[in-house]
Amino acid sequence: MTRKEMEEIVSKMTVAEKASLCSGGDFWHTKAVERLGIPTMMVSDGPHGLRKQKQEGDHLGVNDSIVAVCYPAGCATAASFDRELLKEMGEALGTACQAEEVGVILGPAVNIKRSPLCGRNFEYYSEDPYLAGEIAASYIKGVQSKNVGTSIKHFMANSQETRRMSSDSQIDERTMREIYMPAFETAVKEAKPWTVMCSYNRINGTYAAENKKLLTDVLREEWGFDGFVVSDWGAVNDRAAGIRAGLDLEMPASFGVNDKRIEEAVADGSLSEELLDQAVIRILEIVYRFAENQDKNAVFDKEAQHALSRRVAEESLVLLKNEGILPLKKDQKLAFIGQYAKKPRYQGGGSSHINSYKVTGALEMVKDLPNITYARGFDDTEDVIDEAMIAEAVKAASEAEAAVIFAGLPDAFESEGYDRSHMRMPEGQNKLIEEVAKVQPNVVVVLHNGSPVEMPWLSKVKGVLEAYLGGEAVGEAEYAILFGEVNPSGKLAETFPCKLEDNPSYLFYIGEGDRVEYREGIFVGYRYYDKKKMDVLFPFGHGLSYTQFAYSDLTLDKSSMNDTDGLTVSCKVTNTGSVEGKEVVQLYVADVESDVIRPEKELKGFEKVALKPGETKTVTFKLDKRAFAYYNEQIRDFHVETGDFKILVGSSSKDIRLEEKVHVTSTVQLPKNYHMNTTFGDLLKDERAREFLEPLYKACTMLEACDTNSAESGLGSSSKAMQDAMMVYMPLRALISFQNGSLDFDQLQEVLDKFNS
Ligand code: BGC
Repeated sequence: MTRKEMEEIVSKMTVAEKASLCSGGDFWHTKAVERLGIPTMMVSDGPHGLRKQKQEGDHLGVNDSIVAVCYPAGCATAASFDRELLKEMGEALGTACQAEEVGVILGPAVNIKRSPLCGRNFEYYSEDPYLAGEIAASYIKGVQSKNVGTSIKHFMANSQETRRMSSDSQIDERTMREIYMPAFETAVKEAKPWTVMCSYNRINGTYAAENKKLLTDVLREEWGFDGFVVSDWGAVNDRAAGIRAGLDLEMPASFGVNDKRIEEAVADGSLSEELLDQAVIRILEIVYRFAENQDKNAVFDKEAQHALSRRVAEESLVLLKNEGILPLKKDQKLAFIGQYAKKPRYQGGGSSHINSYKVTGALEMVKDLPNITYARGFDDTEDVIDEAMIAEAVKAASEAEAAVIFAGLPDAFESEGYDRSHMRMPEGQNKLIEEVAKVQPNVVVVLHNGSPVEMPWLSKVKGVLEAYLGGEAVGEAEYAILFGEVNPSGKLAETFPCKLEDNPSYLFYIGEGDRVEYREGIFVGYRYYDKKKMDVLFPFGHGLSYTQFAYSDLTLDKSSMNDTDGLTVSCKVTNTGSVEGKEVVQLYVADVESDVIRPEKELKGFEKVALKPGETKTVTFKLDKRAFAYYNEQIRDFHVETGDFKILVGSSSKDIRLEEKVHVTSTVQLPKNYHMNTTFGDLLKDERAREFLEPLYKACTMLEACDTNSAESGLGSSSKAMQDAMMVYMPLRALISFQNGSLDFDQLQEVLDKFNS
């Protein structure tokens, strides 16, 4: 249907019909309008599987949904650093939606991991906006290639679950632009999601659902979004204000209550009918896009998708530590310990909960191996130390050549709807690991968790495999990696701090009442730990392999450029070990010298390469202006300061192997706003100002006094330093006091006007 035809339909609708179309018919459907032949469209969660509810609907994962394949959650898939894989997973989800007649899958969820405590971190991708944006864009491209829409969520700054429906994220503009927006921005610009879901919370005082700056000025006008905006389920506060701001569809149904409000607002003139029409057209465009592209032949092949889920997990698991213990051998006498060997924790609780097709634990995978024993070790329904279970596990471990402990966070420890109160694993599990390690030197811990945990036992175990919430086939992937059938290649998409208190948001997280101040600003995740030169348990980008990679030949296609030019960077990576493997080559950019406070370095590129033993490949990156820029609030745009930048390429944020420099020249002149209180130092940086100011500087009586005094006192260089500092930090107006009456305000103002012109 063409836009014109849609406009015609809308012109035939009454205000009541239009208002009614702006909210759901029920929990999961848009409304149909029979009189005009407008079809309904179903939407479903997401993001890592299809949660289509046929009967009773809910957004908390309470009622059943159809059987579907559960893929690894966002915490894991981001660790794959693999765009193609995410696209493939998206395609599979799109096909499942087509087969099940679902028009939009509610994901991906891209909120930034501000704190390890966020209950929903398991669904989110990263602490880094570039990575989150790239992964999200790939997922969206995959799903939408099947003519099914996505709903990137939750726009935005929804980085905690505490008071999620009323909290007010207080964020400065630069932090918003550099940290909390770019994942959405990249996805919108690169992958054109059909819909965007606004978050529950307020941003700087205004609910996301009625935030015009976000939903219209930024999303549509700056980034070019052309789909519809849907509210998170129950996020609407003032419906008419929502339409005015750019919120098109309210979900779920408001049972006519808010439709009425829209009608009233149109009647009293506080909402223009054109804005209402616009919302209706945006909704219709997507409803028809799906209706006209339904694939009646689509088949949800669960067996094939289960295999894909396994492959995604294999690419996503992160080998955190390996002191020569992995891979294990199949004929080794091994004790598999821990409930998660049998019944893995592989997905999170809440709206993303999938009624999984089939779940495989690692224990099932080793049932035919001759020398495996199993001890349950803990019961994850209670946070207690179970001495009997620990004793059984210790016995099994002491009789084996190695012990593999499948541990992690229980469901109750992390979920949508609330945040964690600490970063620890249950005491019973920590004790289990400590006790097993006392009798068995060869211990591997396999972790099942959606967010970092403290590891007090780390030095006592030889291996740690981070399995995250690895989807329904996680046990298969664990098996393949533990026994070396698959070489691990995941890298952390987040920092594991040593302890919770190290996290930059620690002092302010969850806020006071509804008010949540993002006081750490742009220093989120590694941006903070790097700058503070802090030890972390495992850094961003870290992940081991069973082989080794050598980096060489870092080449930049130019050594100096304008900020409007592109830069092509390439390097060679060689597999120097004896097994094939994949390396995630990471590129960070660092501003060598800057007038603004910036992180040490920021991720601006990554590529995952597969290499056979001895093989070398060239990896290429393309950088544009944004790779060098910070957000300048004065010009309300990203800006590059002229100067040198380091291009750092490595295997993790803490393992940089190659380094080069490029000089970037800004093509944007920042507006001048010199005034009486501008310091001498700042003015002297301006060539034109320097010309005028240098003679005044020299004529300054304060300098003469300093010169005489330092000569007399013999203070020499320290007095000189003081004198320089006094001048550099002296506001222009103070010149008057040190020019023996030869300057007045009018003269200075004249000069200022000249500088500012
Ligand atoms: C969640 C969304 C979800 C929606 C529908 C909300 O509670 O925040 O992510 O898509 O419910 O289930």
